[in-house]
Amino acid sequence: MAEHRTERGNWNSRLGFVLAAAGSAVGLGNIWGFPTQVADNGGASFILIYLICCLVVGLPVMIAEFTIGRHTRRNPVGAFKKLGSGWFPPLIGLWGVMCGVMILSFYLVVAGWTFGYVFEEIFYFAGLTAASEWVADLGNGFKNALFAVLFMAATIAIITGGVSNGIERATKTMMPILIVVLVIMIIYVFTLQGSMDGLRLYLLPDFTAINTNLVFSALGQAFFSLSLGMGALLTYGSYLKKNQNIVESAVYVTLADVGIAFLAGLLIIPAMFVAQYSGITIMGEDGRLFASTTLVFDVLPNLFKSMGGAFGLLFGTSFFILLSMAALTSTISLLEVPVSYIIDEHKVPRKKAAIGVGGVVMIFAIIVALNISLIDVLVTIFNNVGLPLGGLMLCVFLAWFWKSENAMDEIRHGYDNMDQGLFPKIWPFFVTYICPLLIAVVLGTTLYNLLS
Ligand code: PFF
Repeated sequence: MAEHRTERGNWNSRLGFVLAAAGSAVGLGNIWGFPTQVADNGGASFILIYLICCLVVGLPVMIAEFTIGRHTRRNPVGAFKKLGSGWFPPLIGLWGVMCGVMILSFYLVVAGWTFGYVFEEIFYFAGLTAASEWVADLGNGFKNALFAVLFMAATIAIITGGVSNGIERATKTMMPILIVVLVIMIIYVFTLQGSMDGLRLYLLPDFTAINTNLVFSALGQAFFSLSLGMGALLTYGSYLKKNQNIVESAVYVTLADVGIAFLAGLLIIPAMFVAQYSGITIMGEDGRLFASTTLVFDVLPNLFKSMGGAFGLLFGTSFFILLSMAALTSTISLLEVPVSYIIDEHKVPRKKAAIGVGGVVMIFAIIVALNISLIDVLVTIFNNVGLPLGGLMLCVFLAWFWKSENAMDEIRHGYDNMDQGLFPKIWPFFVTYICPLLIAVVLGTTLYNLLS
């Protein structure tokens, strides 16, 4: 047992854990998804509702994941199995592992696009037009597969290094770079003409834009962005030492995630208006801002090109390196879920497990790369339904099977004066009633809309 425990590894430091978990949370969902949603949903009002969803639903569920992970020191399947009997507990974990594999298989393709665009920018500014156009073609299956495989190889290499030497070290290096690059880019965009129009749209809420759809989008975005519902943060929690304050760490991770999403919007929305100032179209005929792939792979690269010369090159490559790094710290956590499952439950050494599972997911990613329309299907099933369903099962399990009193006993380690504060009065109520209820309403409506 003791041997098995040591083999699982631990985070070396408190900061290392927070950065690794924040690295999982901060990804394409923040730098691409969040500004896209803001552009799509009437600007600042979305930010407000998103913030509420993160604090009211995301944070309590994140604390739950860390707690179950640290208490059991297991992967999601082993963790639920250890805490309950019957078919339901392992099913929650298996669902998480499956979501991890399926989300990773399309996430890798999108991450590969962003990584490819680093070269697109370099080739363009070097005057290699044909090469630049080749990389820019999102419909080229071979190229998509190639970059997805490269991205997976990097992910496997980091995971193979283990918890502290691989994951912790890589995220500890990448996260600060990401923040610094983001801030420098924001400052530069603010000096350009047109940016203030974007800033106004971004920061002034239009309360008439708030409707049920917006609330549902915000909650879905919060789940995906905070990496909740599939056991990624549960797995990261399983490498935590007992003396670390779970609640404080979860607050830091949530704030980092929300903060970086906010910063990404602060860069991208004003940048769109700078692009408009230089004659680039940023809105469709319906008057809505371009979002998603058009925004990231059309509007922004056009802006970088319009800057011209060294600035364009620097800005363009920095932006796509930023996106790729954010994606990499997330693919690491997506792969760690099935890898930890194979290590714990099937006693396979880490390196073998990482290469084996990584190889299988790579095949899935190649299939997606060759059939891009699969991305929408996978997003619908695994992001929009899978993660909230996982989160709902987790809350139900914690509240009615394991019981929140037991969870509180675990949280008390590392949080000495917990009983003197408000936390014990608020959190059990939220995970038992508020979170499952809100998630169930959103999930029910999503399913109803899908099926009708
Ligand atoms: N949170 C990541 C993002 O915002 O891009 C995506 C993600 C990572 C979702 C890990 C789920 C997960 F378990």
